[in-house]
Amino acid sequence: MQITFRPTAPGAADSSTPRLLARIVDQDNLPGDLPRTDAEGAAAARFSGKTGQVFESFAERDGHLVRQALVGAGKADADDRNAALEKAGAALAARFLTSGESGIALDVSGGRLGAAEVASVLLGLRLRAWRHDAYRTRLKDDQKRTLTQVVVIGAPAGAEQTWQTEQKLAEGVELTRNLVAEPANIIYPESFVERVSQALEGTGAEIVVLDEDAMRQLGMGALLGVSQGSAKPARLLAIKWMGGAKAAKPTVFVGKGVTFDTGGISLKPPAGMEDMKWDMGGAGAVAGAMLSIAKRKAKANVIGVCGLVENMPGGNAQRPGDIVTTMSGQTVEVINTDAEGRLVLCDAIAWVQKEFSPAAIVDLATLTGAMIISLGHENGGLFSNNDRLADSLLAAGKASGDTLWRFPLSPEYDKLLDSPIADMKNVGPRYAGSITAAQFIQRFVENDTPWAHCDIAGMAWADKAGATWDKGATGFGVRLIDRYVRDNLED
Ligand code: BES
Ligand code: MN
Ligand code: ZN
Repeated sequence: MQITFRPTAPGAADSSTPRLLARIVDQDNLPGDLPRTDAEGAAAARFSGKTGQVFESFAERDGHLVRQALVGAGKADADDRNAALEKAGAALAARFLTSGESGIALDVSGGRLGAAEVASVLLGLRLRAWRHDAYRTRLKDDQKRTLTQVVVIGAPAGAEQTWQTEQKLAEGVELTRNLVAEPANIIYPESFVERVSQALEGTGAEIVVLDEDAMRQLGMGALLGVSQGSAKPARLLAIKWMGGAKAAKPTVFVGKGVTFDTGGISLKPPAGMEDMKWDMGGAGAVAGAMLSIAKRKAKANVIGVCGLVENMPGGNAQRPGDIVTTMSGQTVEVINTDAEGRLVLCDAIAWVQKEFSPAAIVDLATLTGAMIISLGHENGGLFSNNDRLADSLLAAGKASGDTLWRFPLSPEYDKLLDSPIADMKNVGPRYAGSITAAQFIQRFVENDTPWAHCDIAGMAWADKAGATWDKGATGFGVRLIDRYVRDNLED
Protein backbone atom coordinates (compact mmCIF):
# COMPACT_ATOMS: atom_id res chain seq x y z
CA MET A 1 0.00 0.00 0.00
CA GLN A 2 1.47 3.28 -1.11
CA ILE A 3 0.64 6.11 1.29
CA THR A 4 1.45 9.71 0.38
CA PHE A 5 0.55 13.11 1.80
CA ARG A 6 -0.79 16.26 0.14
CA PRO A 7 -1.72 19.59 1.68
CA THR A 8 -5.00 20.26 -0.12
CA ALA A 9 -7.54 18.44 -2.23
CA PRO A 10 -7.25 19.10 -5.97
CA GLY A 11 -10.43 19.39 -8.00
CA ALA A 12 -12.42 16.37 -9.12
CA ALA A 13 -10.91 16.64 -12.59
CA ASP A 14 -7.37 15.99 -11.29
CA SER A 15 -6.66 12.46 -12.45
CA SER A 16 -3.75 12.02 -10.03
CA THR A 17 -6.12 12.10 -7.08
CA PRO A 18 -8.18 8.98 -6.42
CA ARG A 19 -11.83 9.56 -7.13
CA LEU A 20 -12.87 7.82 -3.92
CA LEU A 21 -12.98 10.47 -1.23
CA ALA A 22 -13.12 9.28 2.38
CA ARG A 23 -13.60 11.15 5.64
CA ILE A 24 -13.37 10.01 9.24
CA VAL A 25 -16.35 11.11 11.32
CA ASP A 26 -17.17 10.97 15.03
CA GLN A 27 -20.23 9.20 16.32
CA ASP A 28 -23.43 11.27 16.46
CA ASN A 29 -21.53 14.26 15.19
CA LEU A 30 -21.54 14.25 11.40
CA PRO A 31 -19.79 17.18 9.73
CA GLY A 32 -22.02 20.20 9.15
CA ASP A 33 -20.90 20.71 5.56
CA LEU A 34 -22.35 17.48 4.15
CA PRO A 35 -24.63 17.92 1.16
CA ARG A 36 -28.28 17.13 1.90
CA THR A 37 -28.16 13.82 0.06
CA ASP A 38 -25.35 12.61 2.29
CA ALA A 39 -26.71 13.97 5.55
CA GLU A 40 -30.15 12.48 4.93
CA GLY A 41 -28.74 9.44 3.17
CA ALA A 42 -26.55 8.62 6.17
CA ALA A 43 -29.50 8.94 8.52
CA ALA A 44 -31.65 6.79 6.24
CA ALA A 45 -28.92 4.12 6.17
CA ARG A 46 -28.70 4.24 9.98
CA PHE A 47 -25.14 5.49 9.81
CA SER A 48 -24.26 7.26 13.05
CA GLY A 49 -20.46 7.06 12.96
CA LYS A 50 -20.05 4.04 15.23
CA THR A 51 -16.54 2.62 15.13
CA GLY A 52 -15.90 0.96 11.79
CA GLN A 53 -19.29 1.82 10.24
CA VAL A 54 -19.03 2.90 6.60
CA PHE A 55 -21.50 4.99 4.59
CA GLU A 56 -20.92 5.10 0.88
CA SER A 57 -22.44 7.43 -1.71
CA PHE A 58 -21.90 8.71 -5.23
CA ALA A 59 -22.14 12.27 -6.44
CA GLU A 60 -21.44 14.29 -9.52
CA ARG A 61 -18.94 17.07 -9.20
CA ASP A 62 -17.79 19.27 -12.11
CA GLY A 63 -19.23 16.69 -14.45
CA HIS A 64 -17.21 13.85 -12.86
CA LEU A 65 -18.46 10.96 -10.84
CA VAL A 66 -17.06 10.93 -7.32
CA ARG A 67 -17.39 8.05 -4.90
CA GLN A 68 -17.54 9.07 -1.28
CA ALA A 69 -17.26 7.30 2.02
CA LEU A 70 -17.81 8.35 5.59
CA VAL A 71 -16.23 6.06 8.14
CA GLY A 72 -17.11 6.12 11.81
CA ALA A 73 -14.46 6.42 14.52
CA GLY A 74 -16.85 6.21 17.46
CA LYS A 75 -17.04 8.80 20.22
CA ALA A 76 -14.34 11.46 20.09
CA ASP A 77 -13.62 11.16 23.83
CA ALA A 78 -13.47 7.36 23.98
CA ASP A 79 -10.68 5.82 26.10
CA ASP A 80 -9.57 3.54 23.30
CA ARG A 81 -9.57 6.33 20.75
CA ASN A 82 -6.46 5.14 18.92
CA ALA A 83 -7.78 1.61 18.64
CA ALA A 84 -11.06 3.00 17.30
CA LEU A 85 -9.19 5.08 14.72
CA GLU A 86 -7.26 1.99 13.65
CA LYS A 87 -10.56 0.19 13.24
CA ALA A 88 -11.91 3.06 11.17
CA GLY A 89 -8.90 2.87 8.84
CA ALA A 90 -9.22 -0.91 8.74
CA ALA A 91 -12.91 -0.67 7.86
CA LEU A 92 -12.03 1.49 4.86
CA ALA A 93 -9.48 -1.06 3.68
CA ALA A 94 -11.86 -3.98 4.14
CA ARG A 95 -14.65 -2.20 2.31
CA PHE A 96 -12.65 -0.98 -0.67
CA LEU A 97 -9.88 -3.55 -1.07
CA THR A 98 -11.62 -5.22 -4.02
CA SER A 99 -14.04 -2.39 -4.81
CA GLY A 100 -12.61 -1.53 -8.19
CA GLU A 101 -11.04 1.63 -6.80
CA SER A 102 -7.26 1.79 -6.97
CA GLY A 103 -6.92 4.53 -4.41
CA ILE A 104 -8.49 6.43 -1.55
CA ALA A 105 -8.19 10.17 -1.08
CA LEU A 106 -8.41 10.35 2.70
CA ASP A 107 -9.44 13.84 3.72
CA VAL A 108 -8.33 14.55 7.28
CA SER A 109 -8.33 18.32 6.94
CA GLY A 110 -10.13 20.48 9.46
CA GLY A 111 -7.76 19.76 12.33
CA ARG A 112 -10.01 17.36 14.23
CA LEU A 113 -7.37 14.62 14.16
CA GLY A 114 -3.83 15.09 15.50
CA ALA A 115 -0.70 13.60 13.95
CA ALA A 116 -0.77 10.44 16.04
CA GLU A 117 -4.47 9.97 15.33
CA VAL A 118 -3.97 10.20 11.59
CA ALA A 119 -1.13 7.68 11.89
CA SER A 120 -3.48 5.32 13.76
CA VAL A 121 -6.00 5.47 10.92
CA LEU A 122 -3.28 4.72 8.40
CA LEU A 123 -1.83 1.88 10.46
CA GLY A 124 -5.24 0.22 10.72
CA LEU A 125 -5.83 0.74 7.03
CA ARG A 126 -2.51 -0.72 5.95
CA LEU A 127 -2.67 -3.69 8.35
CA ARG A 128 -6.18 -4.62 7.28
CA ALA A 129 -5.21 -4.38 3.60
CA TRP A 130 -2.62 -7.15 3.89
CA ARG A 131 -3.48 -10.45 2.29
CA HIS A 132 -1.51 -13.32 0.93
CA ASP A 133 -2.76 -14.25 -2.53
CA ALA A 134 0.54 -15.21 -4.15
CA TYR A 135 -0.81 -18.70 -4.88
CA ARG A 136 -4.27 -17.68 -6.08
CA THR A 137 -3.61 -17.70 -9.79
CA ARG A 138 -7.22 -18.05 -10.94
CA LEU A 139 -8.96 -15.23 -9.13
CA LYS A 140 -11.82 -13.72 -11.09
CA ASP A 141 -11.35 -10.08 -11.95
CA ASP A 142 -13.91 -8.95 -9.43
CA GLN A 143 -12.14 -10.88 -6.66
CA LYS A 144 -8.76 -9.30 -7.24
CA ARG A 145 -7.59 -6.55 -4.98
CA THR A 146 -7.62 -3.16 -6.62
CA LEU A 147 -6.72 -0.80 -3.77
CA THR A 148 -3.03 0.04 -3.77
CA GLN A 149 -2.83 3.70 -2.89
CA VAL A 150 -3.88 6.21 -0.23
CA VAL A 151 -3.44 9.95 -0.62
CA VAL A 152 -3.81 11.71 2.73
CA ILE A 153 -5.11 15.21 2.34
CA GLY A 154 -4.79 18.06 4.80
CA ALA A 155 -2.97 16.14 7.55
CA PRO A 156 -1.70 18.18 10.52
CA ALA A 157 1.98 19.01 10.99
CA GLY A 158 4.00 15.99 12.05
CA ALA A 159 1.55 13.41 10.74
CA GLU A 160 3.79 12.32 7.92
CA GLN A 161 6.75 11.89 10.24
CA THR A 162 4.71 9.95 12.81
CA TRP A 163 3.50 7.74 10.00
CA GLN A 164 7.09 7.05 8.91
CA THR A 165 7.62 5.36 12.30
CA GLU A 166 4.31 3.51 12.34
CA GLN A 167 4.89 2.36 8.80
CA LYS A 168 7.94 0.43 10.01
CA LEU A 169 5.74 -1.29 12.51
CA ALA A 170 3.41 -2.27 9.68
CA GLU A 171 6.37 -3.63 7.71
CA GLY A 172 7.31 -5.80 10.69
CA VAL A 173 3.77 -7.14 11.05
CA GLU A 174 3.65 -7.88 7.34
CA LEU A 175 6.95 -9.78 7.42
CA THR A 176 5.58 -11.90 10.25
CA ARG A 177 2.31 -12.55 8.46
CA ASN A 178 4.12 -13.58 5.29
CA LEU A 179 6.37 -16.00 7.17
CA VAL A 180 3.41 -17.47 9.06
CA ALA A 181 1.14 -17.75 6.01
CA GLU A 182 3.68 -19.53 3.82
CA PRO A 183 3.37 -23.31 3.80
CA ALA A 184 6.07 -25.52 5.28
CA ASN A 185 7.47 -26.55 1.89
CA ILE A 186 8.38 -22.90 1.38
CA ILE A 187 9.32 -21.81 4.91
CA TYR A 188 11.63 -24.26 6.69
CA PRO A 189 14.57 -23.38 8.94
CA GLU A 190 17.01 -22.42 6.18
CA SER A 191 14.51 -20.48 4.08
CA PHE A 192 13.20 -18.71 7.19
CA VAL A 193 16.73 -17.48 7.86
CA GLU A 194 17.12 -16.45 4.24
CA ARG A 195 13.88 -14.45 4.11
CA VAL A 196 14.52 -12.70 7.37
CA SER A 197 18.11 -11.88 6.45
CA GLN A 198 16.91 -10.38 3.18
CA ALA A 199 14.29 -8.28 4.91
CA LEU A 200 16.86 -6.95 7.36
CA GLU A 201 19.46 -6.11 4.74
CA GLY A 202 20.67 -2.55 5.02
CA THR A 203 19.08 -1.93 8.43
CA GLY A 204 22.32 -2.32 10.36
CA ALA A 205 21.03 -5.26 12.39
CA GLU A 206 23.62 -7.99 12.90
CA ILE A 207 22.68 -11.54 12.02
CA VAL A 208 24.17 -14.66 13.58
CA VAL A 209 23.20 -18.13 12.35
CA LEU A 210 24.13 -21.40 14.05
CA ASP A 211 23.98 -24.56 11.96
CA GLU A 212 23.60 -28.07 13.35
CA ASP A 213 27.34 -28.62 13.83
CA ALA A 214 27.60 -25.45 15.88
CA MET A 215 24.58 -26.46 17.94
CA ARG A 216 25.98 -29.95 18.48
CA GLN A 217 29.20 -28.47 19.77
CA LEU A 218 27.23 -26.34 22.18
CA GLY A 219 25.40 -29.44 23.40
CA MET A 220 21.88 -28.51 22.29
CA GLY A 221 20.62 -32.09 22.51
CA ALA A 222 17.00 -31.10 23.08
CA LEU A 223 16.61 -28.84 20.05
CA LEU A 224 18.55 -31.25 17.82
CA GLY A 225 16.51 -34.20 19.11
CA VAL A 226 13.34 -32.57 17.80
CA SER A 227 14.96 -31.88 14.46
CA GLN A 228 16.55 -35.28 13.89
CA GLY A 229 13.58 -36.85 12.12
CA SER A 230 13.49 -34.13 9.51
CA ALA A 231 15.36 -33.88 6.22
CA LYS A 232 15.52 -30.12 6.78
CA PRO A 233 18.45 -29.06 8.96
CA ALA A 234 17.76 -26.95 12.06
CA ARG A 235 19.00 -23.39 12.50
CA LEU A 236 19.33 -20.96 15.39
CA LEU A 237 18.97 -17.39 14.20
CA ALA A 238 19.95 -14.35 16.26
CA ILE A 239 19.15 -10.81 15.16
CA LYS A 240 21.05 -8.19 17.14
CA TRP A 241 20.04 -4.57 17.32
CA MET A 242 22.29 -2.68 19.72
CA GLY A 243 20.91 0.83 19.35
CA GLY A 244 20.99 1.69 23.04
CA ALA A 245 23.61 2.61 25.64
CA LYS A 246 26.85 0.62 25.32
CA ALA A 247 26.73 -0.64 28.89
CA ALA A 248 23.04 -1.62 28.87
CA LYS A 249 22.40 -5.36 28.85
CA PRO A 250 20.18 -6.44 25.99
CA THR A 251 16.61 -7.60 26.31
CA VAL A 252 16.27 -10.87 24.42
CA PHE A 253 13.13 -12.14 22.70
CA VAL A 254 13.11 -15.84 21.87
CA GLY A 255 10.63 -17.36 19.41
CA LYS A 256 9.50 -20.93 18.88
CA GLY A 257 10.09 -21.62 15.22
CA VAL A 258 8.76 -25.11 14.50
CA THR A 259 8.27 -24.68 10.77
CA PHE A 260 6.03 -27.73 10.75
CA ASP A 261 4.82 -29.77 13.72
CA THR A 262 3.55 -33.21 12.76
CA GLY A 263 3.94 -34.25 16.39
CA GLY A 264 6.80 -36.57 15.42
CA ILE A 265 6.40 -40.23 16.42
CA SER A 266 3.62 -39.05 18.78
CA LEU A 267 1.91 -38.16 15.52
CA LYS A 268 -0.94 -35.68 15.49
CA PRO A 269 -4.30 -36.72 13.99
CA PRO A 270 -4.72 -35.66 10.35
CA ALA A 271 -7.67 -33.28 10.81
CA GLY A 272 -6.30 -29.77 11.01
CA MET A 273 -2.67 -30.82 10.90
CA GLU A 274 -2.09 -28.26 8.14
CA ASP A 275 -2.45 -25.59 10.83
CA MET A 276 0.92 -26.65 12.13
CA LYS A 277 2.62 -24.69 9.37
CA TRP A 278 2.10 -21.73 11.70
CA ASP A 279 3.85 -23.38 14.62
CA MET A 280 6.65 -20.92 13.92
CA GLY A 281 4.41 -17.96 14.83
CA GLY A 282 6.55 -17.05 17.86
CA ALA A 283 9.74 -16.95 15.78
CA GLY A 284 7.86 -15.07 13.07
CA ALA A 285 6.75 -12.44 15.58
CA VAL A 286 10.27 -12.05 16.93
CA ALA A 287 11.66 -11.61 13.41
CA GLY A 288 8.96 -9.09 12.44
CA ALA A 289 9.45 -7.10 15.62
CA MET A 290 13.22 -6.99 15.05
CA LEU A 291 12.58 -5.64 11.56
CA SER A 292 10.41 -2.82 12.96
CA ILE A 293 12.91 -2.07 15.72
CA ALA A 294 15.89 -1.97 13.39
CA LYS A 295 14.07 -0.01 10.69
CA ARG A 296 13.07 2.73 13.07
CA LYS A 297 16.54 2.68 14.66
CA ALA A 298 15.24 2.16 18.19
CA LYS A 299 17.48 3.51 20.93
CA ALA A 300 17.56 0.19 22.74
CA ASN A 301 19.58 -3.01 22.91
CA VAL A 302 17.33 -5.79 21.68
CA ILE A 303 18.16 -9.25 20.41
CA GLY A 304 15.72 -11.60 18.71
CA VAL A 305 16.47 -15.31 18.67
CA CYS A 306 14.54 -17.87 16.61
CA GLY A 307 14.83 -21.59 17.32
CA LEU A 308 14.05 -23.16 13.94
CA VAL A 309 13.29 -26.86 13.45
CA GLU A 310 10.85 -29.14 11.69
CA ASN A 311 9.20 -31.87 13.81
CA MET A 312 8.81 -34.99 11.65
CA PRO A 313 8.42 -38.73 12.18
CA GLY A 314 10.80 -41.06 10.33
CA GLY A 315 13.50 -43.65 10.72
CA ASN A 316 15.78 -41.21 12.43
CA ALA A 317 13.13 -39.47 14.54
CA GLN A 318 13.40 -39.43 18.30
CA ARG A 319 11.23 -41.93 20.16
CA PRO A 320 9.00 -41.54 23.20
CA GLY A 321 11.16 -42.48 26.16
CA ASP A 322 14.38 -41.17 24.63
CA ILE A 323 16.50 -39.15 27.04
CA VAL A 324 18.25 -36.06 25.71
CA THR A 325 20.87 -33.88 27.34
CA THR A 326 20.13 -30.18 27.01
CA MET A 327 22.71 -27.42 26.65
CA SER A 328 22.19 -26.59 30.32
CA GLY A 329 23.35 -30.10 31.22
CA GLN A 330 19.91 -31.08 32.51
CA THR A 331 18.47 -34.29 31.06
CA VAL A 332 14.94 -34.69 29.70
CA GLU A 333 12.89 -37.83 29.23
CA VAL A 334 10.90 -37.23 26.05
CA ILE A 335 7.55 -38.81 26.93
CA ASN A 336 5.71 -37.15 24.07
CA THR A 337 7.52 -36.04 20.91
CA ASP A 338 4.65 -33.62 20.24
CA ALA A 339 5.69 -31.50 23.23
CA GLU A 340 8.59 -30.27 21.11
CA GLY A 341 8.33 -26.50 21.43
CA ARG A 342 9.68 -26.50 24.97
CA LEU A 343 12.58 -28.69 23.85
CA VAL A 344 13.52 -26.10 21.27
CA LEU A 345 13.07 -23.17 23.63
CA CYS A 346 15.07 -24.65 26.50
CA ASP A 347 18.25 -24.83 24.44
CA ALA A 348 17.67 -21.45 22.82
CA ILE A 349 17.18 -19.92 26.27
CA ALA A 350 20.28 -21.63 27.68
CA TRP A 351 22.27 -20.24 24.76
CA VAL A 352 21.06 -16.64 25.06
CA GLN A 353 21.96 -16.59 28.76
CA LYS A 354 25.49 -17.79 28.06
CA GLU A 355 25.95 -15.60 25.00
CA PHE A 356 24.31 -12.29 25.94
CA SER A 357 23.72 -12.17 29.75
CA PRO A 358 20.36 -10.54 29.07
CA ALA A 359 18.58 -7.97 31.23
CA ALA A 360 15.41 -9.96 30.59
CA ILE A 361 14.20 -12.83 28.41
CA VAL A 362 10.76 -12.93 26.84
CA ASP A 363 9.81 -15.98 24.81
CA LEU A 364 6.87 -16.24 22.42
CA ALA A 365 5.55 -19.62 21.35
CA THR A 366 2.53 -21.40 19.90
CA LEU A 367 3.20 -23.83 22.70
CA THR A 368 0.03 -25.59 23.84
CA GLY A 369 -3.42 -26.45 22.55
CA ALA A 370 -4.50 -26.09 26.19
CA MET A 371 -3.91 -22.35 25.88
CA ILE A 372 -6.67 -22.15 23.29
CA ILE A 373 -8.98 -24.07 25.63
CA SER A 374 -8.23 -21.51 28.36
CA LEU A 375 -8.31 -18.19 26.54
CA GLY A 376 -9.70 -18.87 23.08
CA HIS A 377 -8.56 -16.37 20.50
CA GLU A 378 -8.82 -13.22 22.61
CA ASN A 379 -5.62 -13.14 24.67
CA GLY A 380 -2.21 -14.76 24.75
CA GLY A 381 -1.20 -16.45 28.01
CA LEU A 382 1.52 -14.81 30.09
CA PHE A 383 3.77 -16.63 32.57
CA SER A 384 6.59 -14.94 34.43
CA ASN A 385 9.00 -15.18 37.35
CA ASN A 386 9.01 -11.38 37.69
CA ASP A 387 6.03 -9.17 38.53
CA ARG A 388 7.57 -6.01 37.10
CA LEU A 389 8.31 -7.60 33.75
CA ALA A 390 4.87 -9.22 33.73
CA ASP A 391 3.13 -5.92 34.46
CA SER A 392 5.08 -4.13 31.74
CA LEU A 393 4.14 -6.81 29.23
CA LEU A 394 0.48 -6.72 30.27
CA ALA A 395 0.54 -2.93 29.79
CA ALA A 396 2.27 -3.22 26.41
CA GLY A 397 -0.35 -5.77 25.40
CA LYS A 398 -3.19 -3.49 26.35
CA ALA A 399 -1.68 -0.48 24.63
CA SER A 400 -0.87 -2.36 21.42
CA GLY A 401 -3.95 -4.55 21.17
CA ASP A 402 -1.85 -7.73 21.42
CA THR A 403 -3.38 -8.51 24.79
CA LEU A 404 -2.11 -10.99 27.37
CA TRP A 405 -3.60 -12.61 30.44
CA ARG A 406 -1.35 -13.79 33.26
CA PHE A 407 -1.31 -17.36 34.62
CA PRO A 408 0.30 -18.73 37.80
CA LEU A 409 3.54 -20.62 38.27
CA SER A 410 4.45 -22.52 41.44
CA PRO A 411 6.58 -25.38 42.79
CA GLU A 412 3.48 -27.61 42.93
CA TYR A 413 3.08 -27.35 39.17
CA ASP A 414 6.81 -27.70 38.66
CA LYS A 415 6.88 -30.99 40.54
CA LEU A 416 4.51 -32.52 37.99
CA LEU A 417 7.45 -32.70 35.57
CA ASP A 418 9.65 -34.91 37.74
CA SER A 419 10.85 -38.08 36.00
CA PRO A 420 11.87 -41.39 37.57
CA ILE A 421 14.84 -41.73 35.22
CA ALA A 422 15.98 -38.25 34.14
CA ASP A 423 15.97 -34.71 35.57
CA MET A 424 12.52 -34.09 34.13
CA LYS A 425 9.89 -35.29 31.67
CA ASN A 426 8.85 -33.08 28.79
CA VAL A 427 5.16 -33.33 29.68
CA GLY A 428 3.10 -33.30 32.86
CA PRO A 429 -0.28 -34.93 33.46
CA ARG A 430 -3.34 -33.98 31.42
CA TYR A 431 -4.47 -30.89 33.33
CA ALA A 432 -2.89 -27.43 33.47
CA GLY A 433 -0.93 -28.25 30.33
CA SER A 434 -0.04 -24.65 29.52
CA ILE A 435 1.29 -24.08 33.03
CA THR A 436 3.43 -27.21 33.17
CA ALA A 437 4.83 -26.25 29.76
CA ALA A 438 5.83 -22.88 31.21
CA GLN A 439 7.29 -24.59 34.29
CA PHE A 440 9.42 -26.69 31.99
CA ILE A 441 10.88 -23.59 30.35
CA GLN A 442 11.44 -21.93 33.72
CA ARG A 443 13.76 -24.78 34.71
CA PHE A 444 16.22 -23.37 32.18
CA VAL A 445 16.19 -19.77 33.44
CA GLU A 446 19.25 -19.14 35.60
CA ASN A 447 19.87 -16.82 38.54
CA ASP A 448 16.38 -15.37 38.57
CA THR A 449 16.92 -13.54 35.29
CA PRO A 450 13.62 -11.75 34.66
CA TRP A 451 11.81 -14.03 32.24
CA ALA A 452 8.37 -14.14 30.70
CA HIS A 453 6.75 -16.71 28.46
CA CYS A 454 3.90 -15.80 26.10
CA ASP A 455 1.87 -18.75 24.86
CA ILE A 456 0.34 -17.40 21.66
CA ALA A 457 -1.14 -20.67 20.35
CA GLY A 458 -4.59 -19.08 20.03
CA MET A 459 -3.39 -15.82 18.52
CA ALA A 460 -1.02 -16.43 15.62
CA TRP A 461 -3.75 -17.46 13.22
CA ALA A 462 -7.35 -16.30 12.83
CA ASP A 463 -10.12 -18.23 11.09
CA LYS A 464 -12.04 -15.02 10.57
CA ALA A 465 -11.15 -11.40 9.95
CA GLY A 466 -10.73 -9.15 12.99
CA ALA A 467 -10.19 -5.49 13.84
CA THR A 468 -7.02 -4.95 11.81
CA TRP A 469 -6.39 -8.31 10.23
CA ASP A 470 -7.92 -10.45 7.52
CA LYS A 471 -8.43 -14.13 8.19
CA GLY A 472 -5.13 -16.01 8.30
CA ALA A 473 -1.86 -14.89 9.84
CA THR A 474 -2.43 -12.11 12.39
CA GLY A 475 1.13 -10.99 13.14
CA PHE A 476 0.33 -11.23 16.85
CA GLY A 477 3.31 -10.40 19.04
CA VAL A 478 5.02 -7.86 16.80
CA ARG A 479 3.13 -4.93 18.22
CA LEU A 480 3.46 -6.33 21.74
CA ILE A 481 7.26 -6.51 21.49
CA ASP A 482 7.53 -3.17 19.73
CA ARG A 483 5.38 -1.46 22.35
CA TYR A 484 7.31 -3.08 25.20
CA VAL A 485 10.57 -1.82 23.70
CA ARG A 486 9.25 1.69 23.12
CA ASP A 487 7.77 2.09 26.60
CA ASN A 488 10.41 0.31 28.69
CA LEU A 489 13.76 0.36 26.91
CA GLU A 490 13.79 3.62 24.97
CA ASP A 491 13.76 7.02 26.61
N1 BES B 1 2.29 -26.67 18.44
C1 BES B 1 1.56 -27.43 19.38
C2 BES B 1 0.54 -26.59 20.14
C3 BES B 1 -0.60 -26.07 19.33
C4 BES B 1 -1.71 -26.85 19.11
C5 BES B 1 -0.58 -24.79 18.83
C6 BES B 1 -2.77 -26.36 18.38
C7 BES B 1 -1.63 -24.30 18.10
C8 BES B 1 -2.74 -25.09 17.87
C9 BES B 1 2.50 -28.06 20.39
O1 BES B 1 3.75 -28.41 19.90
C10 BES B 1 1.86 -29.30 20.88
O2 BES B 1 1.70 -30.19 20.12
N2 BES B 1 1.50 -29.32 22.15
C11 BES B 1 0.86 -30.44 22.73
C12 BES B 1 1.47 -30.68 24.08
C13 BES B 1 1.07 -31.98 24.68
C14 BES B 1 1.68 -33.12 23.91
C15 BES B 1 1.53 -32.00 26.12
C16 BES B 1 -0.63 -30.12 22.84
O3 BES B 1 -0.96 -28.97 23.12
O4 BES B 1 -1.43 -31.01 22.61
MN1 MN C 1 3.74 -30.35 19.08
ZN1 ZN D 1 4.41 -27.36 18.29
